[in-house]
Formats: sequence, structure tokens, C-alpha cells
Amino acid sequence: MSDRFETALAARGAEVEARLAATLAADHPLLAGAPRRLLDAMRHGVLNGGKRLRPFLILETAALFEGDGDAALTVAAALECVHSYSLVHDDLPAMDDDDLRRGQPTVHKAFDEATAILAGDALLTLASGLVAGAEAIAPAARLDLVRRLAIQAGAGGMVGGQALDLAAETAELDESEIRRMQAMKTGALIAFACEAGPILAGASLEDVVRLRRFGEIVGLAFQLADDLLDETADAGALGKAAGKDRARGKKTLPALHGHDWTRGELQRLVGEAENLLAPYGDRAEPLAAAARFVALRGR
Ligand code: IPE
Ligand code: IPE
Ligand code: MG
Ligand code: MG
Ligand code: MG
Repeated sequence: MSDRFETALAARGAEVEARLAATLAADHPLLAGAPRRLLDAMRHGVLNGGKRLRPFLILETAALFEGDGDAALTVAAALECVHSYSLVHDDLPAMDDDDLRRGQPTVHKAFDEATAILAGDALLTLASGLVAGAEAIAPAARLDLVRRLAIQAGAGGMVGGQALDLAAETAELDESEIRRMQAMKTGALIAFACEAGPILAGASLEDVVRLRRFGEIVGLAFQLADDLLDETADAGALGKAAGKDRARGKKTLPALHGHDWTRGELQRLVGEAENLLAPYGDRAEPLAAAARFVALRGR
């Protein structure tokens, strides 16, 4: 993995951590009156060392089109709240039933199940408020972002994909059905991350469509790598349980086709992602590096 990319991810990550910490605070106007224990559970679910890859994609796609950096940070914080909520709920006993997340006890373990459900609900709701209030973004683009985030996070996006993932535990899926599930449960939020930058920057529809396609491919690679890591890495490296997917009956492409096929498919997806960035030349190098990281990562 290139050290240069790790350094860039860490630098963007520091900006994102600071914004998330300031957002998930008792004095934030969107959280006025929030019960302390609920707020603590939200903080536990978000401020716990995620890779912040989706925020990186928003900040870098916005920078590519010279979008306002502070507005991009607001949308990045919002998306990380949605992503973190999806993890809090994904780990619940009724879903994947996991005790470890980002190297710490999951929210329902550190608090309780009801609080974990409510913390997820509150994070999702907070995200809409954050994007709606990003006043540096032109009103039409801001509305477009709120609407697109609702679609990508919702029943036809991440939540729908999670429903398909759970239903598949007791069903057989073919390759195209697995890809569709991956595109929804993981690809939808990553595609939003990549289209959000050009949208908030007021870029052309052609650029929005191209970056969205880039995000869809990165999203597929992301879940493919996650499924491979479940079979090849350990919990220490991942900060979450490993080696559980097969036992739970999860339907994955590494289970269907094996590890060598999966590594080849990841390389193919990286090539496709890089080709989409060709029109932007060297300026898109951070995004190309992100695509390579996603496919080849060990965490
Ligand atoms: C994990 O996402 C869940 C999937 C969509 C596979 P990440 O690997 O981005 O998790 P964090 O945010 O770094 O903890
Ligand atoms: C999670 O997929 C996708 C989400 C939308 C949260 P996984 O269930 O494979 O994610 P991990 O492995 O628990 O992080
Ligand atoms: Mg899951
Ligand atoms: Mg899971
Ligand atoms: Mg997984």
C-alpha cells in the first residue's frame, strides 16, 4: 500500500475527526436537548477510529472541481454519520450479531440494544439536517444532495441491500444477485460520496455521472475486498470479527469463486476505475490511489 496515500488519508481524516467531534456535541444546534446517554452512544458509534474513506472521497471529488472545502466537510461528516449508523445497526443481534467494531465493543455492547437502535436513528436524522444546513452550497444543489442521500441510504439503496443480505442467509443467490446486493448495501453510499463532490461544486452533469460511475465501481471493489478480508485477515487487523461470513450463510463472491478469482476481479475493477478518471489527468491521482487502496487494503 502506498505510504503517500496513507498520509493523504490521515490528513483528510484529521479534518473529518475534528468536524465530527464538533458536530456530535451537546452544544450543536441540531442536537439541542439530546439526552446525554443517547449522545454518548452516538459518539461511541462515530468517534471510534473508522478509516473515513467515504469522507475522503467527498473531499477529493469536491477538490477536483474546486468545490468549497468547508461545505464538502459538512457533507462528509453527514455521510460518515449515515455510514456509522449503518454499522451500529449491522452489528445488532438481530442483524450480524457482532461484539467488536473499530477495535472497540459495538454500541449495543457498550450501551444496550435499544440505545444502539436509537443512536442509529438519531445519526441518520442528523445527517439530513447537516446537509440541509450547508449554506455555502447553492440551494438547488443542496436539495439535490439531500434527496440523493435519502435515496442512496434508503430502501432502494443501503437499507434495501442490508435486507437482501439478511434474506440471503437462508437462500441461494447467483453472481448477479450478489453483485446487486453489494451495489445496494455498500455501493450506494460510496457512489453518493463520489457524486457529492461534483454536485456541491456545481460541476457539469457529465462529470457528476462519470464520478458516480467511478463510485459504483469503487463500491463493488470495497465490498469484494471486505468479503475477502473476512476470509483472510484476523480480527486484530480488522478491528472487527473475521471468519464469520461463511458460517452465517452470507452470500459472497469469494465464497462463490475463490480467492484468486476475487483478487483478479479486484484488479479489473481498479483498472476500470482508473480509466474513468483519465479525463482529469494527474489532478485525479488521489482518487485513483483511493481506488487502489480499496481493492488492495489489509484493513
Ligand atoms: C465497513 O466499512 C462496512 C462495509 C460497508 C463493508 P468500512 O471498512 O469503511 O468501515 P470503517 O468506517 O473503516 O470502520
Ligand atoms: C456491511 O456489510 C454493509 C453495511 C451497509 C453496513 P458487512 O456486514 O460485511 O460489514 P462488516 O463486515 O460487518 O463491517
Ligand atoms: Mg452485514
Ligand atoms: Mg456485518
Ligand atoms: Mg463484512
